[in-house]
Amino acid sequence: MMPSSRVVVMLSGGGSNLQALIDATASPAFPAKIVGVISDRPDAYGLQRAAQSDIPSRCVERDHYATRTEFEHALARAIADFDPDFVLLAGFMRILRGDLPDRYAGRMLNIHPSLLPRHKGLDTHQRAIDAGDIAHGCTVHFVTRELDAGPALIQARLDIADTTNAEQLAAQVLKLEHKIYPLALRWLAEARVELTSNGITLDRIELPEPVVMDADGLDC
Ligand code: GRF
Repeated sequence: MMPSSRVVVMLSGGGSNLQALIDATASPAFPAKIVGVISDRPDAYGLQRAAQSDIPSRCVERDHYATRTEFEHALARAIADFDPDFVLLAGFMRILRGDLPDRYAGRMLNIHPSLLPRHKGLDTHQRAIDAGDIAHGCTVHFVTRELDAGPALIQARLDIADTTNAEQLAAQVLKLEHKIYPLALRWLAEARVELTSNGITLDRIELPEPVVMDADGLDC
C-alpha cells in the first residue's frame, strides 16, 4: 500500500468542504490524510471542525503583519511546518500574490463555485442567474498565480431551474463541491493526475478539458 499523502487545507470560513475532505480521508483506504488546517480568520468555523477531528490547526491573520509579503511568508512557514504533499484551498478568501503557487505547483488545488472560466471571483451564483446561464456548477483547479485561472481538473454541473434563486443554487453547488473535491484529492494522491507544461494528464493521457460530472451521476 502506498504511504498516505499529507494534506494541508486552507480556509477562511465554515469549512463544509474541509468536513467533506475529513469524512473522505477518515477511511483507512483513502490515500491521503489531513495533517493541518490553516485559517486567516480566528473565528472560522472550519477551525472548530479541525479541532473536533483532532487535526492541528494554525491561524495566520493578515492584520498581524505589516505587509502582504510578510503575511504570505508567515503563511508559507505555517504550511511548510506541516510538511504537506498537497495544499488544498477550500474557501480561503485571500489572493496569493507571492511565490506560493509556484512553490506548490502541481500540488496546490482550489475549489471554485462556478464552471470556470465562467464567473471567476465572487458572487458566482447570482452572476450565473443574471447571465441567464442554463448550467452552473463548480470546478477543482490547480492554483497558479492568476486568480481562478489555473488548469481545471474536474467540474460538476447542474441545470439551473427557472425558479432557482442564488441561495438555493449555492446550496446545490456546495453539495457538488463536497463530492468532487475528495475525488480530486484521491486522484492526486494516487498519482493518477499530473500537471505538466502542456496541461493536466489523467492516467498519463492529456486532458483537453476538465472531467465533467453531472449532478445526477453524483447523486446530488
Ligand atoms: C465554497 O463555495 C468554495 O467553492 C468557495 O468558498 C466556499 C467555501 O465553503 N471557494 P466552505 O467554507 O467549504 O463551506
